[in-house]
Amino acid sequence: MSFDPVAIRRDFPIFDRTIRDGKRLVYLDSGATSQKPQVVIDAEVDFYRLHNAAVHRGAHQLAEEATDIYEGARDSVAAFIGASRDEVIFTKSATESINLVAYGMGNAQPGNRFFLQPGDTIVVTEMEHHANLIPWQQLAARTGATLVWFEVTPEGRLDLSAIDSLITDKTKVVALTHQSNVLGTINPLEEIVKKAHSVGAVVVLDACQSVPHMSIDVDALKIDFLAFSGHKALGPTGIGVLWGRAELLEELPPFLTGGSMIESVTMSGATWAPAPRKFEAGVPNMAQAAGLAAAIGYLNTVGMDNIHRHEIALTKSLMSQLSSLPGLTIVGPTSMENRGGSISLTVDGIHPHDLGQFLDNNGIAVRTGHHCAWPLNKKMGVQSTTRASLYLYNTEEDLQALVAGIADAQKYFGR
Ligand SMILES: Cc1ncc(COP(=O)(O)O)c(C=O)c1O
Repeated sequence: MSFDPVAIRRDFPIFDRTIRDGKRLVYLDSGATSQKPQVVIDAEVDFYRLHNAAVHRGAHQLAEEATDIYEGARDSVAAFIGASRDEVIFTKSATESINLVAYGMGNAQPGNRFFLQPGDTIVVTEMEHHANLIPWQQLAARTGATLVWFEVTPEGRLDLSAIDSLITDKTKVVALTHQSNVLGTINPLEEIVKKAHSVGAVVVLDACQSVPHMSIDVDALKIDFLAFSGHKALGPTGIGVLWGRAELLEELPPFLTGGSMIESVTMSGATWAPAPRKFEAGVPNMAQAAGLAAAIGYLNTVGMDNIHRHEIALTKSLMSQLSSLPGLTIVGPTSMENRGGSISLTVDGIHPHDLGQFLDNNGIAVRTGHHCAWPLNKKMGVQSTTRASLYLYNTEEDLQALVAGIADAQKYFGR
């Protein structure tokens, strides 16, 4: 399929509407959540209209159909990231996926490989979204383990010079983001994963900003766990994915307990079903799984490599256009090497919120604030930024609107 973002936009009903008194919608906030193509909306509606029943339970046709759709979605996700179906767990979000791993580890008893105690370390980085920082802070607090972290360089890259002192034989977990939601930096996984495995630690990858934007193969990355959210990948809200290696999922204790996740139950105890059921307590998010499968189908039809190439080209173009504006600073790498389409910036003399509001008046949706990464903002010397984040439906016209909008804001605020 040839890549045509203008044709792609026609598949997304939201682009038929206008913003702020008839202006064209320029949506540059896909890092927060993506827009949805009609096929995703239809899949969710059709589930409720035609197939709604509780999966894995009923002995009737609707339950059978719902189960086929839900388990079919698991097959789609597995194929999409190069995994086996039993290694794919549905959660409500990436945040829940990461908490599942952290709480599961916190439930481990002595003798279990995930048991943590004082003296052990958990390694994160300064560029984590709070979703991949706070669960580990809390796990450290509950177990007495120590949290340590890779620092970020002024350019917005991970400083790997301390790798040997950070990842040691005390390290149990290394949790990091694949692509920074603030800086756009794509992290060098190979060296980190190799080092983590050499000391017997597991690697948890926050792939929220990479799975929607590039082709991902969990085996090729050699990681151990991966989390992403459906809603950033054209799918519905309320569904996330956790992938984990089969032998690790077997040993990881459950997080949420209740119906559907058990093998047997007495009044005094229970045993667990094998993964993925062990980690999917209760009636799951079935319609959302149907929507996510449709989103993956759509992404596959367009082609992940095409999407990545398009975003890289747009990012390059936007960075070059932004460089012509005086007083504008990119917060994050300015070279295109290992960089994706999240572009955070500050403009001298204009508060990011004022800039965001000014752009919104022109129909341009960007995100302003700390982007759920307080420590990173502090490290980069900013309180907040204005962020444009790109996706498959963005066009050169969107970029020109943004650059013109920022230039107009500079005039308006007398800069
Ligand atoms: C890098 C990263 N990790 C985690 C999350 C959390 O995702 P969710 O809110 O869908 O759980 C986000 C959301 O912005 C993110 O960008």
